[in-house]
Amino acid sequence: MTDTDAAPVDRKKVRAFARHLFGVYTHGALSYMIDIGHRTGLFTAASEGPATSSELAARAGCDERYVREWLGAMVTAEIMTFSADDDRYALPPEHAAALTGGGSKNMGPMAAMVTLMGRNLDGVERAFREGGGVPYPAFAPEFTGVMDELNRRPLDELLVDAWLPLVPGFAEALTSGIRVADVGCGTGHALALLAAAFPASTFVGYDLSEDALRAARAETAELDNVTFEVADAAAFSPASPFDAVVAIDAVHDQADPAGMLRSIHDALVPGGRFVMVDMAAHSGVADNVGNPFAPWIYAISTLHCMTVSLAAGGAGLGAAWGQETARAMLADAGFGDVETHPAPGQALNLIYVTSRPG
Ligand SMILES: C[S@@+](CC[C@H](N)C(=O)[O-])C[C@H]1O[C@@H](n2cnc3c(N)ncnc32)[C@H](O)[C@@H]1O
Repeated sequence: MTDTDAAPVDRKKVRAFARHLFGVYTHGALSYMIDIGHRTGLFTAASEGPATSSELAARAGCDERYVREWLGAMVTAEIMTFSADDDRYALPPEHAAALTGGGSKNMGPMAAMVTLMGRNLDGVERAFREGGGVPYPAFAPEFTGVMDELNRRPLDELLVDAWLPLVPGFAEALTSGIRVADVGCGTGHALALLAAAFPASTFVGYDLSEDALRAARAETAELDNVTFEVADAAAFSPASPFDAVVAIDAVHDQADPAGMLRSIHDALVPGGRFVMVDMAAHSGVADNVGNPFAPWIYAISTLHCMTVSLAAGGAGLGAAWGQETARAMLADAGFGDVETHPAPGQALNLIYVTSRPG
């Protein structure tokens, strides 16, 4: 093909795309600024009211020169405002609602995920060329804390009050007393909440990560109805079967997700429930076009979820494995009918409810 055969390039579209691209890079850089603001407490300090850079630096216990530069980024990115009259910076209350506080609306902790994902770029690049992946331990020890901070607040607000009622009869069974496992439990906060809310039930959390389970045991030290075991999700075999199993954001990055689903099926009593919380996506990319969360899901998958699985010689399912593949894999593992619910309060997640046939 010669130059003259090539489709004409619309220069306006090139310029528009270049602007779009620069916007992408700008947002990438800004997410580090947000991570800094969250880590240092600058957003919380700013939410106390308008301040000069010196006042804000004093409030947060930070160096003024850094704070002033950071404020420049915050103001020009329209995250904060600046009044030239009195040299004061302000965080609008609507923005403070999304960047501060102990509730699930605080998106500040999410920026740490971007920071962490960037850490292993060299390894991911190598895997693009040579195959394989970056193993889970390469994300340690920060991954445990980042996941915990990301999920803890939504779990506090949503698990018992909004998610459990989606599973018919589950809350009643938990109240009467059943055996429940959380597979890939991480720092075990979901079980800590359930064990406190349902003292007649007993709970077991499984994970491969020793540091996550250390945190889980510390958090639940006062509860006598929850224990944690280091175990491979694809090969755990409980002393006695469970009435219910949950897996929260824990299937798609497994080395052997099919083995995990089979192990969960086999660990349940006949009729036992399986509740899986996972990414809200379709399995085919065409069906994800227009989903505003899809670029995030694919990107985090490439940089973490898929690569940790491939590093272990695994399936490399990826975070966008999607509901069609999920349903097929649940059926292959022996589960019965599957219901899905958009996870209240968590637009990124779907809740799958199924059971081992009785
Ligand atoms: C994305 S994190 C989710 C953790 C937790 N459920 C939450 O919602 O915060 C996935 C978890 O699966 C665990 N995991 C990965 N592969 C595993 C395996 N083969 N067996 C057991 N746990 C595994 C990881 O250590 C990690 O804690």
